[in-house]
Order: sequence, then C-alpha cells, then structure tokens
Amino acid sequence: MEKTEKIWFDGKLVDWKDANVHVLTHALNYGTGVFEGIRVYDAAKGPAVFRLKDHVKRLVDGCKVMGIDLEFGGRTYTAEDIVSAVKDVVRANRKVDYVKPCVFLNGEEVGLNPVGVPASLAITCIFMGDYLSPSESGQKLITSSWHRPDNLCGPAGAKVNGAYVTSCLAKREAVRQGANEAVMLNSSGHVAECTGENIFIFRGGKILTPQASECILEGITRASVIQVARDLGHEVVETEITRTQLLTADEVWMTGTAAEVVPVTVIDGRAIGTGRIGEVSKGIHARFHDIVRGKIPEYESWLDPV
Ligand SMILES: Cc1ncc(COP(=O)(O)O)c(C=O)c1O
Repeated sequence: MEKTEKIWFDGKLVDWKDANVHVLTHALNYGTGVFEGIRVYDAAKGPAVFRLKDHVKRLVDGCKVMGIDLEFGGRTYTAEDIVSAVKDVVRANRKVDYVKPCVFLNGEEVGLNPVGVPASLAITCIFMGDYLSPSESGQKLITSSWHRPDNLCGPAGAKVNGAYVTSCLAKREAVRQGANEAVMLNSSGHVAECTGENIFIFRGGKILTPQASECILEGITRASVIQVARDLGHEVVETEITRTQLLTADEVWMTGTAAEVVPVTVIDGRAIGTGRIGEVSKGIHARFHDIVRGKIPEYESWLDPV
C-alpha cells in the first residue's frame, strides 16, 4: 500500500499525518463503525470511481442498521454529500486506486452504550495495486475453521468494522497454511464467502453463487459480475452451495472491490476442475477488466468521473 497526501476528515482535507483519534475512541475499542472500499480506475475518459453511488448507499444503509446518524463535525450529511466528498478527496491526491470511507463512533467513552457518542467520517485514499498477488495458475484457498457470522450475531449484510475480526482470523489461518484466501461456511454448513470477497462456482453448465440469505455481504462486484455473466449468455443462479459442490465445481472464482475477479484453482489441497484457470472465469475476468476501464459503452453508467 502507498500512502497519499490528504484525508477527508469530518468535512476538512487534512494531511495524512494529522488524521488521528484518541486511544479511547469507541470504535477502536468496540468496533462501532461502518466502512466501504471503492476502486478508482484510469478509465478511457479519465479517472473514474466504480459504482460510487452504490457504495455510498451501502455505507449509509450500514449506518442506519447500526443506528449511527450522518452527523460529522457539527453538520448533517446526505448520501449526495458523501459522494461529493469522495470525489473531492480523490482529486486532492496524486496517485489513488482505492478509497476507504469509514464512519465510526469517535467519542472518548468507556462502556458499550453507543447512544449519544459522536460519529466521524474519514475518507482515506491509497494506492493499493493488486490486493491478492496475481497468479497465472490461479489462487489457492482453504476452508476456514471460522464460520461466517450469521444474521443472529450481527448484520451480516453490512460492512461493520467489528465484524471483520472473523475475516482477519480466517485470513491468518489461510496465510499460515500457505494459501492466499479462506472461504468461510455459514452456520448451516453452506458456502458463504471469502474474507473480503464473494464466491462463484461454475458447475453443470451454470454459474452459482450463494444467495443473500446465506449471511454474505451483497458485494457490488458480485452484482456486477452477475449482470455481466447474464449479458454474456450464462445462466446465473443465486442459491445455497454445499462444500461438496464447491470442491467438485468445474471452476471457482472470487469477486470483490479490492481483489476484482480472481480465479481459484485449488481449495483444501484439491484441484478445482482441471486445476487450471477455466474459460468461463477467464471470459468474465477479461470483460470486467475492460468494463471498469470504460472500454465497453453499455456499462459506462457504472463509472463516475472524478
Ligand atoms: C466480507 C466481504 N464479502 C464480500 C466483499 C465484496 O464486496 P464488494 O464487491 O462490494 O467489494 C467484501 C468487500 O467489500 C467483503 O468485505
């Protein structure tokens, strides 16, 4: 990751080194925040943010679920204000490919009661490059011993900071075992998703991905890939997927803002399909690559010029 110059913090553009909080910040101690991850591309018509309004909507929805009002630095913000703020901070920095807005309870409080604790919004830009090291032979996954938290443990469909402890545990488990990523099962034993990516399989001539009720985050890349795959003529089904179906799929790939579209060729030491990147994932990967760079006019509305 490469740092940038400016961070948008409660309405002001401050220097990277000055975007600080107190050690007693509620969110630091109890995970009370909601965040987003958004890609910026050098598109055909200039720098553009991918599906910015959809990301901001998910952030605002997450805040609603958490009961956090959009009041930062003494001012109330709308989704449109946050969209403008994201563009402002991207413009204020030289080299950006990833933006991370984070709404968090910023009061210096000891105790779990979040009521009345003031919130902040920080919008950080970085240059991330590839999130997962690119591999011509595809990515290696393990099935984590940690389960994807279900909807009874918290809002699985919101990007709540504290909920990412499980993803961090699963990621550590994967890295320790020499894998790139971990897939998590849900409390029914069905395939849910990876630590920061949704998962797709190609099996029996159809594309399958876990449905929203499987305790997944409804990824914006996932929604994009479902549409792109259908536009390419594939049948896509949102459903329940068992671990056996995953291991015996012809192809598997992950989708996420940071990771983009990433083929998987090994899970739990077993080759997926032929053990090489398959034609369906290759086709979707190539199409997505061109769409985000503004090369396919039908999808231009997904790009918000900066
Ligand atoms: C747990 C989890 N699942 C899936 C995704 C993919 O979502 P998106 O495509 O919106 O980035 C993410 C990343 O935001 C994530 O953190």
